[in-house]
Amino acid sequence: MPSLLLLKTNEMNRLLITICAAFCCWQTVAAQQFFGKPKPLNDSLYNTLAQTPPMGWNSWNKFGCDVSEDLIKSMADAMVESGMKDAGYKYIVIDDCWQIDRDSMGNIVPDPAKFPSGMKALADYVHSKGLLFGLYSCAGSYTCQGRPGSRGHQFQDALQYARWGVDYLKYDWCSDEGQNAQAAYATMSDAIKESGRPIVLSICEWGENEPWKWGKGIGHLWRVTADIRDCYECLFDWGGVGIVNIIDKMADLYPYAGPGHWNDAEMLEVGNGGMTRDEYITHFSMWCMLAAPLMAGNDITKMSAETKEILMNKEAIAVDQDPLGQQARRFMDMGDHEIWAKPLANGELAICFMNRSELTWHLDYDWRKNAIYYAHEVSFRKHEYKVRDLWQHKDIGTSKTNLKADIPTHGVLMLRLTPVK
Ligand code: GLA
Repeated sequence: MPSLLLLKTNEMNRLLITICAAFCCWQTVAAQQFFGKPKPLNDSLYNTLAQTPPMGWNSWNKFGCDVSEDLIKSMADAMVESGMKDAGYKYIVIDDCWQIDRDSMGNIVPDPAKFPSGMKALADYVHSKGLLFGLYSCAGSYTCQGRPGSRGHQFQDALQYARWGVDYLKYDWCSDEGQNAQAAYATMSDAIKESGRPIVLSICEWGENEPWKWGKGIGHLWRVTADIRDCYECLFDWGGVGIVNIIDKMADLYPYAGPGHWNDAEMLEVGNGGMTRDEYITHFSMWCMLAAPLMAGNDITKMSAETKEILMNKEAIAVDQDPLGQQARRFMDMGDHEIWAKPLANGELAICFMNRSELTWHLDYDWRKNAIYYAHEVSFRKHEYKVRDLWQHKDIGTSKTNLKADIPTHGVLMLRLTPVK
């Protein structure tokens, strides 16, 4: 009798163990299903990922397809060592040509010769420097350099980016195959949200489908022109444009910019050698006035003092990053001479005199005879402003006296005006 009881107890134990094991196993599977599927990002978080225009570095303008793990690491190092990180630059973005294929499961494959440690390790490296990591893809089946695009793989790719630790996605528009642009970008936007990772989406369809009209809520910034060229004023047959051409395109788009959603005037060419110092200062100043994203596009491991001075002008950057997020308006257009104004969050004003002519602009400007019409009228007759030159980094008078300056050909005078109490 006792042995029968023992046997029964043993059987009971075995049964209990089996039940427990089955329960544990079920729990693990359930847990995997529950925790393995990321929690989608909600719209309110997604929409606030770029409250000020994104700042960083992108490989394309200088290096084209010549990207590698070593190059990206050296740029991350330089971002910190040069002081650019302290000046506000934070994204390190690999543009086209990092990807080479898809595997048998359809997963995107980075070029193993160029990125032998893989993207997760590279993202970890960039993050270890206190920076953020970005990649490039394309809404079509192929990127502009003929690498695999994301069409048909958007959700799979976004999950992969999230696993790697991607923080920024530049999403291009080559081989679009007749897709509807808004729908194509909305698909990638949904895929990012499903991935659960806060990834900034940079819409890059060159302004062809007026993304400023539908991009807000889908992405955080949208290109407005074809690719920038390292020149002041130029239009290439095959689509490249100079900085003045971009500025003219941006001029009418001010209603569409604001915290979380920006008109993208293109990546910077400062330091790439095609323009004069004054032209680069105009390029940088106007991007700041236009609240444009500031993505350096030069070799930041080898910067001249002049390039550093421009890219790290903190007073100009403060205008770009102003929390009010208003894009400057061209409130006076006198042919080759223009005056742009951008109201700032604390009631101050950024003003930029831009000389497009081939001659020096001998400026003699009576503030009191020139009100600035913006959201409201800024009357220099009623109010006095302190005037600060943001490139000389010094106060140069007040609005009670005429502003006198020689603005070089293709140059600017960028000012910050503070009300005198
Ligand atoms: C397009 C984009 C560029 C760059 C290249 C890469 O031309 O507009 O900024 O990303 O593709 O192939």
